[in-house]
Amino acid sequence: MTEKQFELIDRATERKSELPVRTGTIGPAVVDISSINKDLGLFTYDPGFGLTAATESRITYIDGDAGVLLYRGYPVEQLAEKSSFMEVAYLLLLGELPSRKQLEGFSGSIRYHTMINETLLRFFNGFHHNAHPMAMVSAVVASMSAFYHDTMDIHNPRQREIFAHRIIAKIPTIAAAAHKHSLGQPFIYPRNDLGYCSNALHMLFAVPCEPYQVDSVAAEALDLLFILHADHEQNASTSTVRLAGSTGANPYAAISAGVSALWGPAHGGANEAVLSMLEQIGSVDNIAKYLAMAKDKSSHFRLMGFGHRVSTNFDPRAKIIREMCHKVLVRLGRPDNPLLELALRLEEIALKDEYFISRKLYPNVDFYSGIIYSAIGIPRSMFTVMFAIARTVGWVAHWQEMISDPAMRIGRPRQLYTGPTRRDYIDITKRV
Ligand code: ACO
Repeated sequence: MTEKQFELIDRATERKSELPVRTGTIGPAVVDISSINKDLGLFTYDPGFGLTAATESRITYIDGDAGVLLYRGYPVEQLAEKSSFMEVAYLLLLGELPSRKQLEGFSGSIRYHTMINETLLRFFNGFHHNAHPMAMVSAVVASMSAFYHDTMDIHNPRQREIFAHRIIAKIPTIAAAAHKHSLGQPFIYPRNDLGYCSNALHMLFAVPCEPYQVDSVAAEALDLLFILHADHEQNASTSTVRLAGSTGANPYAAISAGVSALWGPAHGGANEAVLSMLEQIGSVDNIAKYLAMAKDKSSHFRLMGFGHRVSTNFDPRAKIIREMCHKVLVRLGRPDNPLLELALRLEEIALKDEYFISRKLYPNVDFYSGIIYSAIGIPRSMFTVMFAIARTVGWVAHWQEMISDPAMRIGRPRQLYTGPTRRDYIDITKRV
């Protein structure tokens, strides 16, 4: 919807540009600056895209100050309490909660696609055993574009749907294969009689020489973590998927770009970094020292799992995960977890500290998730991979939304050039 207008005036030339304001269904309105280059010969400058809405979207809404996160309008707290990851995946992809029949059809299709081409499995042998699983997952997901290239017409809705089901179904299989490769254990094939998370745990932990019983507590915990990680509107990895996909690139390649972007410690890699940090801090007695380091800009140390570009109040996902930590540890029979105790104390002290208060730095989704992943036996190097499994749903939903939009354009940011002005080439014999 377009409403009132702002006017931008170049005082030197008296040239003007009328800037319409566009309003969404909720949240702040945006100023549409698309005419200012034509009217005034200007571009805008917004490093880190802190203020720029790059797209319209109907998928996820965040009010960071109020601690609100809605998937297709539904509060994440309600989905975490009442829904399942498969249902949330359907909701994010298709916009509405499914009927029982629709959910069965959707889950059935996801189960049908869990196996990966045997040749793709051999790719893992090209990696050293200590390769980071995120590197393997990113490479193997990108390689899927080689298997589904000629058959993939991004303008065909049915082919897009098959792509969506394939990648959501296969990403746990690829993730588990990366884990098994790191351990030097044989790859475990998916079991299509199991639910999404139970199957993921089966592929991660089963071995061919003995029976494996999926722990229902672990499967439930994983399902809840996956719901909370499924989408977070235009975050760095989702924007990466959109940008790569906007070129018309094969969508598996675009998802692989998202996996790579997620890996960084400022984004999804923070869950791994949080656990390393807690171990580094070691004891409550050292918290003051590390908080001082986090406040000292010259130390390059940040409190991992704290702060968020958009969530500038308590992230509802962090609240749920924190509450869930105790329950899961008790149900798994491991109620005393020194790292959880340390994390709780660190949070308490940081939230009373003027530095964190004034900058609105709260625990984010990654602060507690690693403690749960650890408790269910997932090694630290796999934390971000688990995040990637869940976020694949969000990436696919955004890619679908973008590709099916007739107004889609290639993503192409501008720049403020500050390099040398035009100069003539100097022959190498004349350079000093
Ligand atoms: N520890 C200490 N200081 C911090 C932290 C932190 N974790 N986060 C931000 N700050 C400080 C900055 O130094 C800056 O201080 P200043 O105003 O004195 O210069 C101020 O808070 C604002 O920080 P920015 O870096 O400008 O905030 P930005 O929105 O660009 O960054 C980010 C957000 C990357 C998440 C940042 O808070 C951070 O690095 N956090 C730690 C890593 C992390 O947990 N990432 C996961 C995010 S959740 C996710 O992506 C799934």
